[in-house]
Amino acid sequence: MCGIVGALAQRPIMAVLLEGLKVLEYRGYDSAGVAVLDHGTAHVVKTAGKVAVLEAEVKAQGCDGPIGIAHTRWATHGKANEVNAHPHQVGNIILVHNGIIENYQELKHKLSFEGYTFKSETDSEVLAALIHYYQHRELKPDSSLKIHTSKFNAFNQALNEVKGTYGVAVIDTENPDAIFVARSGSPLVVGCGIGENFVASDIIALLPVTSKFIYLEDGDRGIIGRDHVMLFDRDQVLVNRPVQSIQVNPEILGKGPYKHYMQKEIFEQPEALRNTLMGRLDEDNVSANAFVAQEEQAHDFLEVLKHIEHVEMVACGTSYHAALVGKYLIEEHAGISVNVTIASEYRYKRTIVPPNSLFVTLSQSGETADTLAALELAQRQGYRHTLAICNVDNSSLVRMSQYVFLTRAGREIGVASTKAFTTQLIALLLLTIALGRAHHEIDEHEGANLIASLHQAPAVVHTVLQLDAKIQELSSDFVGKEHALFLGRGPMYPIALEGALKLKEISYIHAEGYASGELKHGPIALIDSKMPVIVVAPDNLWLPKLISNIEEVKARGGKLYIFSGKNFGHSAEATMIDLGTVSPFIAPLVFTVPLQLLAYHVAVINGTDVDHPRNLAKSVTVE
Ligand code: F6R
Repeated sequence: MCGIVGALAQRPIMAVLLEGLKVLEYRGYDSAGVAVLDHGTAHVVKTAGKVAVLEAEVKAQGCDGPIGIAHTRWATHGKANEVNAHPHQVGNIILVHNGIIENYQELKHKLSFEGYTFKSETDSEVLAALIHYYQHRELKPDSSLKIHTSKFNAFNQALNEVKGTYGVAVIDTENPDAIFVARSGSPLVVGCGIGENFVASDIIALLPVTSKFIYLEDGDRGIIGRDHVMLFDRDQVLVNRPVQSIQVNPEILGKGPYKHYMQKEIFEQPEALRNTLMGRLDEDNVSANAFVAQEEQAHDFLEVLKHIEHVEMVACGTSYHAALVGKYLIEEHAGISVNVTIASEYRYKRTIVPPNSLFVTLSQSGETADTLAALELAQRQGYRHTLAICNVDNSSLVRMSQYVFLTRAGREIGVASTKAFTTQLIALLLLTIALGRAHHEIDEHEGANLIASLHQAPAVVHTVLQLDAKIQELSSDFVGKEHALFLGRGPMYPIALEGALKLKEISYIHAEGYASGELKHGPIALIDSKMPVIVVAPDNLWLPKLISNIEEVKARGGKLYIFSGKNFGHSAEATMIDLGTVSPFIAPLVFTVPLQLLAYHVAVINGTDVDHPRNLAKSVTVE
């Protein structure tokens, strides 16, 4: 996590750095800092809290300069305070870092022995000291070498000693004409201007200043000058990475008429679903181009599916919940076994790889460290094929995978994932149909029916969004509540998990999702007249069983909120929210929407920072 921006120009660049940081706040926002060099003098400003606090402090100090680096932090090592905020300065070296230096204690010990002292509790300051150490103790500046080369050697030597992950940008008070950068496990992109260049964790930080980008590959290190960019690969061979022109309308970064990004993104779902489906459906099957092969020689994905006997899915958080829905769908309709594992668990356990398995990763950002590590492991474990379902083109996950399904949700800025989730579900519905057709579990007639229900999804979600005012009204019932239970059965069980996650992460109400049949095995003890119990109850195979569970809650005085697809009678104990008849195939996706709205309105009433809930970051690029 953490966001990095750097700039090297012939004009003052403080505004570029601060504007860049603001859009990178999705990567962390517990403290921020900036360093600029002005005629060889370093000005470092750091503050706890969000970028707005830093901006006010920078304004008060009035500093600026033509070269600088900036950082917005999500704390890993050390509290979220001013001292631990980046940049970290050790002598002439000033550094910003995203990632984790795993052997920092060992390096700190070595450097302490050499006389270094440390101001912060961070692993990043140790890296700054290590670069300083190699510049000053080992590599005496060699007059026959250019200053860049000698200093870059020291930078390399320090990084060679580091274990862990990093995206780093370093400036040097003795060398105000270069930014040194390196990437290993954390994203970094160079923005190319005319007589000026930039670096950032994400292109969105640089959209106001350029549309030309060079994506660093993992292991790359380099020197950014005003007129040149030199990059070396992991073997330290000079490489020529392509400059890509990327046109993004900066307006998509605005909130439009909405109060929060999350609200905007909830309401964008009909369009996001439509875009995700566009051009990917034939009459009774998924079109051949829906899943894209990354290599030219690769087989057509629909052909590949004919040989797939097992699917392994790995993801984190909301994306993990999507994968759980995928398991129900694929096993039910395509008759193929599916295993779903949280990425941080997958990467450290032994896995038995069944023959002819497809390894599927799901991620909004495509930069989640645990998911990337799980994919790397899967590649070594010999999975026959890998597929990424991802919302960010050019992300690490996309680049590492053999086949890709881009979810086309559009940029998701609110920290709580909404439209990325429902478009992931579209991807999984398509995968279900494709697998079912490939294995003759879904015939032409059923294929055509499922496709027809997919076509309806955007309009049905649009209709469900009209319940907004009603859901806003009932959200006032949640004032003062500390706990909530979400119940579902079958594919609605993961939707209950997702509803609970949304509520807890943005409103700070403790919420749990349960498969409603599990209620009597423990959680029923929690039910009393104060406990809100939210039930996701579309008209499907599981409904009769779910109704029995609802009766169990009623009998114990629980306060019920039932999102239903079939009117099964009003009663004083329950608030019914009727979504109307929805095809069971798309029901998981449709019934997610009112739960997102509920979480949103409860958070607004609770007065939380909806788009930036405490302790979270949008993109979890550390382990
Ligand atoms: C919750 C949320 C997170 C992410 C998780 C994985 O609303 O957004 O749980 O789903 O951090 O992120 P991605 O999908 O980017 O891999």
